Amino acid sequence: MAAASDRQMAGFKDFYQFVAPTRVIAGRDLLGSTGFEFAKEGARRPLVVTDAGIRATGLVDRVVDGLADGGLEAAGVFDAVPPDSDTGAVAAIAALARERGADSFLAVGGGSVIDSAKVANVVFTHGGAPRDWEGYHGLPRGGDGTGAPLALAPLAAVPTTAGTGSEASFAAVVRDREARVKFQVGDFALIPRLAILDPETTATLPAAIAAATGVDALAHAIEGYTSREWSAHGDAYALHALRLIAANLERAVHTPDDVTARGNMLIAASLAIAPTVAGALGIAHSLAHPCGALHDVAHGVAVAICLPAAIEYNAAGGEDIAARYRDAGALLGVDAEGEEIGPALARHVRSLAESLGLPTRLTAVGVAESAIPDLVAGAMGDACTLVNPREPSAAQIAALYRSVL
Ligand SMILES: [Fe+2]
Repeated sequence: MAAASDRQMAGFKDFYQFVAPTRVIAGRDLLGSTGFEFAKEGARRPLVVTDAGIRATGLVDRVVDGLADGGLEAAGVFDAVPPDSDTGAVAAIAALARERGADSFLAVGGGSVIDSAKVANVVFTHGGAPRDWEGYHGLPRGGDGTGAPLALAPLAAVPTTAGTGSEASFAAVVRDREARVKFQVGDFALIPRLAILDPETTATLPAAIAAATGVDALAHAIEGYTSREWSAHGDAYALHALRLIAANLERAVHTPDDVTARGNMLIAASLAIAPTVAGALGIAHSLAHPCGALHDVAHGVAVAICLPAAIEYNAAGGEDIAARYRDAGALLGVDAEGEEIGPALARHVRSLAESLGLPTRLTAVGVAESAIPDLVAGAMGDACTLVNPREPSAAQIAALYRSVL
């Protein structure tokens, strides 16, 4: 049992911390009162951050109109966030916020939009270039540098996908196109003040994006629950996220007029990001990140391809780890009677992804075998690898990639 206690995957843990400070407003018909709610966070003149696709749906106009409810006025609308948030967009958002005299940020969009607004807020408040803030816990603090993080401008998020959980998370991922990497910025001050979860925002979401982002949320719940960073507080979030995802993901994708399913998926996504403070997850994410940075594979799609292999590998790492996968499998309706949980849960997730219309192999999204050495280097260096329940070797990571080619 020494291995189990070394990993601290059960029992009373030696140490953990947990935060979930975002004020969440969830329900129907909330977009008309964005100003009333955001005023309570001190916002008067927010810069609205979105992308061209979301703006074309008319959703941004509804949100901007809703600002008047609290006597707020939009400082402007930045609608040019690219599909992968990048350093250029982040710098442009911060510059526009300064130019227009904004005092806060209102992000309306998916993970790229929200992450861009979060890092732009850091640049807006503290100056510098986006990549200057790479890393965790590096934002300016009071006292001798060990005090409270200096406050950023108020930021509210209206997620338009049910997946990343960025509306309630500690970190943001930004792409540096020249360096061909995605880097992370994470600190407590980056956690949005307010998240507005209204299923109207996902009414026009294409099925392929609802599927990919939904499986990303599923991966956050499973990897958060099985991470070395697990905590009793986090377990409460992860396990209820799994219940909601089990009951609502397929409905939300296949019957998009099902408001209940879409609303519950928004809630599930915001719960699923909470289990680990820094959003440090596990190797499904380590394997997926370089697929995005090097080969432009959408995050949720890459996660969906890699998650079953990661589950099977991790669950074979010891009884204490397998016990956690059994908990997750039970909530997802996996019948592992007479079988190891790893293969059973992996098969369940793979067939779920297939039923949602997602690709299940890397070659289907343009990643060839020759790419593996660079992918392995990226995955081994990823922060999520450090908190994975098993410590993988480079050879094992390469084998995992080959298993999903
Ligand atoms: Fe993710």
